[in-house]
Amino acid sequence: MQLHVVILAAGKGTRMKSARAKVLHEVAGQSLIEHVLAAATALKPATVTVIIGHQGETIREALRAHSHVAFVVQEPQLGTAHALLTTETRLGEKSGTLVLLSGDVPLLRVSTLEKLVETHRAAQAAATVLTTNLADPKGYGRIVRASDGRIARIVEDRDASVEEQAIHEINGGIYAFDLDGLFAAVRSIGANNAQREYYLPDLVSVFRKAGRPVETVVTDMPEEILGVNSRQELAIMNRIARDAVNKALMASGVTLEDPATTYVHPDVRVGPDTVIHPNVSLERGTIVGSGCDIHSGARLVGAIVGDRAVVLNHCLITDSTIGSDTSVGPFAHIRNGATLAPHAKVGNFVELKKTALGPKSKAMHLAYLGDAVIGERVNIGAGTITCNYDGVHKHLTTIEDGAFIGSDTQLIAPVTVEKDAYVGTGTTVRHNVPAGSLAISAGKQRNVSGWVERRKKTLSTKSSE
Ligand code: UD1
Ligand code: CA
Repeated sequence: MQLHVVILAAGKGTRMKSARAKVLHEVAGQSLIEHVLAAATALKPATVTVIIGHQGETIREALRAHSHVAFVVQEPQLGTAHALLTTETRLGEKSGTLVLLSGDVPLLRVSTLEKLVETHRAAQAAATVLTTNLADPKGYGRIVRASDGRIARIVEDRDASVEEQAIHEINGGIYAFDLDGLFAAVRSIGANNAQREYYLPDLVSVFRKAGRPVETVVTDMPEEILGVNSRQELAIMNRIARDAVNKALMASGVTLEDPATTYVHPDVRVGPDTVIHPNVSLERGTIVGSGCDIHSGARLVGAIVGDRAVVLNHCLITDSTIGSDTSVGPFAHIRNGATLAPHAKVGNFVELKKTALGPKSKAMHLAYLGDAVIGERVNIGAGTITCNYDGVHKHLTTIEDGAFIGSDTQLIAPVTVEKDAYVGTGTTVRHNVPAGSLAISAGKQRNVSGWVERRKKTLSTKSSE
C-alpha cells in the first residue's frame, strides 16, 4: 500500500517574533522542518508534499537539496483543514495512507510514526490520531472519548467547555488518513468556531458520524509531539535534544565535566576517554579522537581531531585537521583547511589559515601563518607573520624541514625558506633563503649616549616657556 506524507508549514509563527520562517529555526543544529523531513523520509513514502504560505519562498529555497519534496502554496491560510485541501490536486486521485505531519514538531520518532501507520492499517481506519497525556494541556486540542472509550471528537482549547478543558489527553496534530474519501470529508468541514478557521481535527467527528472507524495511538514520550511556537519552546526543545546527545556520548565513554554547558551537534563523533570540559561547542561535522582534552571555551566546527590531542581554552577551530598528540591554544584560531601534523604545537594567539604545520613543528606565540606549507621540526618565533596577500592575490610561503624563524619575522610571499635555514629576529624575508643559510635584514644597531638626559632638558625648557 502506498504512503504519502504531507507536512504543514504555511502558518505564520506569530509568537516567534521573527523575520525568519518558524520552521527554519534550528534545534540541535538543524532546522525544524529538516527534522520532520528526516522522520518522513525514513517511512520511504511515495511522495512528500510541503504546504507553504508565509515566507514560503525561503522555505522552498532552504529545502532545495531535497529534490523529492514537492511544494504547494496555501494562500490565504484559513486553517489546517483548508491547508490539507490544497494538496487535493496532487493526491486526490491517489489511494493508500496519507501521513500528516507538522513542520514545527521536530522531535518525533520514526518508531512512533511507524506505529501510527501500522495501527491505522490494521484497523482499516479512516483516521488515526497521535495523542499524549500532558500535565498542562493548555493550548492543545483535547481528545474527547465516548463512553465506550473510543475517540468521539477533538475540541480546540479555545472552543472547549470547562469540563473539556480538564481533559489531559491532547491532539498531537499528527495523523494517518485513508486517502479514499478523505478530501470529500475535509470539504464538509465548516469554520463555525472561535477562530473562524477550518479545523482538521473536526475530521474525527465527521468520520465518526459517518460510521467510519477512527483510532488513536498514545505516545508516552510527550516531548516528541511538542511543537515550537515561541523562542522559549525552541530553547526547551534544544535542551531536550542536547540532553539526548550528551547522554549517548557519556554512554559511549566520553567524560563531560558539565553536560549542562556542553553543546554537541548530533552528527559529531567523539572517541572514548576524551574529556570535554565545561562550555565547549562541538558543531556540525566535527570528529574528535580518543583520549583528547577539549578545554573550556573551545568551539570546533567541522574539525577533525586526532587521538590524545589537547585543545586548550578558548580556541576556535573551523574546517581544519588537528593531528594526534598535538596541542593547540589557548586562544588559537585554526581555520580554512589548516592542518597540524602529529606532535605539532600551536600556542596562544596564533592564527593558522590554509596552512600545513609539519610533524613536531611549533608556533607557540602571537603568529599569523596563512597559505603556508611548513615542514618538520620547524620553529616559528613569536610575532612571525606571513604576508600572504598583496591586495589582489594570495601567495604561498614555504618553510622547509628544520628551519628556524626568529621572532618578529615577516615572510613576504611568495617566498621559500629552505631546509635548515635560519632567519634572524626581526627579518623581513623578501627573497628565498637557501638551505643552511642565515637571513638577516635589520639595519645595524646604533646607541646614542646621553640622549635621554638631553631630551629631558629640552622638554623641561619647553614646558616652562
Ligand atoms: C493544532 C491542532 C490542535 C493540536 C495542535 C498540536 C488544529 C485546528 N489544531 O493546533 O488540535 O493540539 O496542533 O500541536 O489543527 N498551518 C497551515 N495552514 C493554516 C494553519 C496552520 O499550514 O492555515 C500549519 C502551521 O504552520 C503549523 C500547523 O499547521 O505547522 C499547525 O497549526 P497551528 O496554528 O500551530 O495549530 P495549533 O494551534 O498548534
Ligand atoms: Ca502549533
